[in-house]
Amino acid sequence: MTPKTIATILKDAQIGKEITIKGWVRTKRDSKNVIFININDGSTIKNIQAVVVPTDIEESIIHQVVTGAGVAITGILTPSQGSGQDVELLASHIIVYGTADPEKYPLQPKKHSLEFLREIAHLRPRTNTFGAILRIRHALAYAIHQFFNERGFFYLHTPIITGSDAEGAGEMFRVTTLDPKNPPLNDKGAVDYKEDFFGRETNLTVSGQLEGELGAMALGKIYTFGPTFRAENSNTARHLAEFWMIEPEMAFYELEDNMDLAEEFLQYLVKYALDNCSDDIAFLEKRLLDEEKSLKKEEQSPLPLREKLHFVVNNSFKRLTYTEAIKILENSKPNKKGQFKYPVSWGTDLQSEHERYLVEKEFNAPVILTDYPREIKSFYMKQSEDGKTVRAMDVLFPGIGEIIGGSQREEDYDKLIKRVDEVGIDHETIWWYLETRKFGTVPHSGFGLGFERLVLFVTGMKNIRDVIPFPRTPKSANF
Ligand code: 4AD
Ligand code: MG
Repeated sequence: MTPKTIATILKDAQIGKEITIKGWVRTKRDSKNVIFININDGSTIKNIQAVVVPTDIEESIIHQVVTGAGVAITGILTPSQGSGQDVELLASHIIVYGTADPEKYPLQPKKHSLEFLREIAHLRPRTNTFGAILRIRHALAYAIHQFFNERGFFYLHTPIITGSDAEGAGEMFRVTTLDPKNPPLNDKGAVDYKEDFFGRETNLTVSGQLEGELGAMALGKIYTFGPTFRAENSNTARHLAEFWMIEPEMAFYELEDNMDLAEEFLQYLVKYALDNCSDDIAFLEKRLLDEEKSLKKEEQSPLPLREKLHFVVNNSFKRLTYTEAIKILENSKPNKKGQFKYPVSWGTDLQSEHERYLVEKEFNAPVILTDYPREIKSFYMKQSEDGKTVRAMDVLFPGIGEIIGGSQREEDYDKLIKRVDEVGIDHETIWWYLETRKFGTVPHSGFGLGFERLVLFVTGMKNIRDVIPFPRTPKSANF
């Protein structure tokens, strides 16, 4: 029989019934005539405490029940005598599937640093913090599919191996089966990719958008949700070399519709987490408060986690153009006092310090910036009448900076080709993309949400390496 999870047992609370819990020992505490064993099975942040009378269970078995051991404990569920839990299990039978050498088990029942836990990513899901994060991550992924399904979007599986770098979103990882020591060469002495597995150069995708657009031109509204890869050497708390992205793409949507969707989407997801992950979020809120106690006031989060999340759900995002944002930044105190590391002027890309000034100081709300200079944005964005800007939009979040990037797309074939040539993209690699503008082109828009940046926001964690089970970053691909 499959065991009931602790989440279900606590929900049903069938006092007086014999039940079996299966999980991992978090702590074991000897008291006068009883032993208290805390079990967690990952289904919830809550443990169940088993109460063992040593005379009831063989000593050699009790001996193996240590922090980290995998066990099954059978007993009667009773109201708890102690504080801290409503029910507990009076153990009558214990199976130890695997014990854990206390000298060697790295997860001692004490606080470990996040840096240390990254080194033991194979075990960190067993901590309260990572259990909570991974359950929230799951809930958000589920909510994403639910959101789109409710609105008539189709989940489109775009390829992970791609022959084009048309996006230009970042450096790519090459996919090849050629022998790096002895690759075949062509008559010019360069590597002959015709001999490679796919008969051409291929890479891991940086985005599913271009193929997503093909889907939208047939199904109307689609979304992708898959892994994307960027070999940029940015060792920051907001970048991963492998991250997950959600990219909706909608025919007949203009920029305003795109912004409305992005705002509704983010609010829906944050609300879903608040409604469905309350224990885990409450735990992370407390964790964050403890963590920040030692920080200076201005370094602490301005709002407790749940208040911050409710704020996003209940307040509309501030919308303004890039040009307006630049004026605000130019006139801002930190700019006048020379406190920005990067100077601001019309035409330059906004740095994270500028984005965070707008969100955290100027507006104190999520911000959607639109109409960026065309030179700093991708070739596919719809060109505006002014000849200088494109119909781009970035959604900026407190503590995160850019969480979504998107745009209305250039649907005019001639304008698109002109831009493709200006930035020097080979037509051969994206001929199929260009053809959509020849055969029944229509206005359309879309955006990309960085999944880990969303999980960062909802969990209140500060480093993106701590919201994905097995992070990939420069010089690090363990596990
Ligand atoms: O702004 P980006 O590069 O946009 C695109 O890739 C478009 N094709 C999206 C579209 O219009 N369909 O990336 C989108 C989002 C960013 O806003 C950010 O949240 C996240 O992806 N992102 C990263 N997250 C983690 N690590 C990285 N290295 C990231 N690069 C981008
Ligand atoms: Mg971007």
